[in-house]
Amino acid sequence: MSAKNIHFYYKNVCEEILGPEHGITSGQFADLAKKTTPLIERLNQERKSGKIPYRDLPYHSRYPKEVKELAARLQQECENFVVLGIGGSALGNIALQTALNPYLYNLDSKQRKGPRLFVFDNVDPVQFGSFLDWIGDQLNKTVFNVISKSGQTAETAAQFLVIRQMLLERLGPEGYKKQIVATTDPKKGTLRAITDKAGFRALEVPDGVGGRFSVLSPVGLLSAAVCGIDIEALLEGARQMDERVSRTDFFANPAALNAAIQWHYYQRGKRISVMMPYCHALKDLSDWYRQLWAESLGKKTDLDGRAVFVGPTPVNALGTTDQHSQVQLYREGPNDKVFTFLQVRQFKRDVVMGDCPPEAPELGYLARASMAKLLNSEKLATEYALIQDKRPCLTVIFDSVCPETVGQFFYLYEVTTSLAGMLFHINAYDQPAVELGKEATFALMGRAGYEEMAKKIRPFQETDSRYLV
Ligand code: PA5
Repeated sequence: MSAKNIHFYYKNVCEEILGPEHGITSGQFADLAKKTTPLIERLNQERKSGKIPYRDLPYHSRYPKEVKELAARLQQECENFVVLGIGGSALGNIALQTALNPYLYNLDSKQRKGPRLFVFDNVDPVQFGSFLDWIGDQLNKTVFNVISKSGQTAETAAQFLVIRQMLLERLGPEGYKKQIVATTDPKKGTLRAITDKAGFRALEVPDGVGGRFSVLSPVGLLSAAVCGIDIEALLEGARQMDERVSRTDFFANPAALNAAIQWHYYQRGKRISVMMPYCHALKDLSDWYRQLWAESLGKKTDLDGRAVFVGPTPVNALGTTDQHSQVQLYREGPNDKVFTFLQVRQFKRDVVMGDCPPEAPELGYLARASMAKLLNSEKLATEYALIQDKRPCLTVIFDSVCPETVGQFFYLYEVTTSLAGMLFHINAYDQPAVELGKEATFALMGRAGYEEMAKKIRPFQETDSRYLV
């Protein structure tokens, strides 16, 4: 294996480390293998018959070709690239940018290989207004990538309407057409209709791929390619992981082990799954994971229609920052969590500390020491402390942070989620509970056809002063 791999380390959930009450015994591992192996086989089979389209994204040739061609043109055309999207249409883009481009990418032109990138996944008027004030006089150097499969998502549609008006008023119809790129359904939907009418350049949201599984499609690839990320290497990483997560040998399959361990602990009252990267670049991978895990596994009914109300709660934390915020709870609070650390073996660079001031000899241990060593030592120290309190700890080790390892990570967690869905016996690919809130928003905003719902919501609109303190 090259030094561009990720590795799944699970010793610190075993009985030999945590004891029989909180650790997984070899007998329990054997049971997990027995339960999970047929599911790996079934998932492989379903994938072969085309039922799991996200699994084939790393092998697609047309999408990366179209993305790279368009990205090369956009790099020449614009100084700012703005993604308008939410949920699965934004979190992958943000994660890729944070992981693979420099921290000061937007601020320092010497550190970036493409336009500045902004991803808006909210409708906060103060935030968006501040951006509009800044972008207003550089619209002809700015391209807006509107990403929405349906085009009906209120937040993305709202942002789009603001930008559309601004472009039409300031640059006219030609400017409006030129400064927008749509990523949407190739045939149907609101954004497709708008795109066809306006003549926007467009990329495809693949059929059958849910937003949270779409990062390796044009949804996530375009902003990455425009900002100079090697998307071929990213897809190559995903392909490498595909081989590993297709293995029917449970103990050689990191997705199967990961899903089974999480499922095992859920059944034993550890229903919170904390992901804690010890690397700023990996910080938004845990945000991406939070959506993937929550929307896929939080379900009321199982595949037989029985009410089950299952779902591990994903929590993201950041090392070392949250050692000073969360670790007190993690160690001494309820033993109801499984921890997954993300750790980097070889950082892209290191920073060496200065000399120790003579008046503070107690800082001598830091003098001329490496910051990477301190970060990784703190990861180990936190893990050690958690283990003393019998808290199960997993680690995803990145040889380095590069497109290959990030591609592996996305694919590992997508397949882990599919297998976890099978273990929980639920549909991991829908999100029915998101609908009611969306419809209530339509009703509150006066959308035609939602009058009945508006009536039902009315009592909740009035603040009851008896309860207002
Ligand atoms: O994972 C999902 O399916 C969701 O998070 C969607 O990506 C999100 O709701 C945005 O939907 P759309 O692409 O239709 O705007």
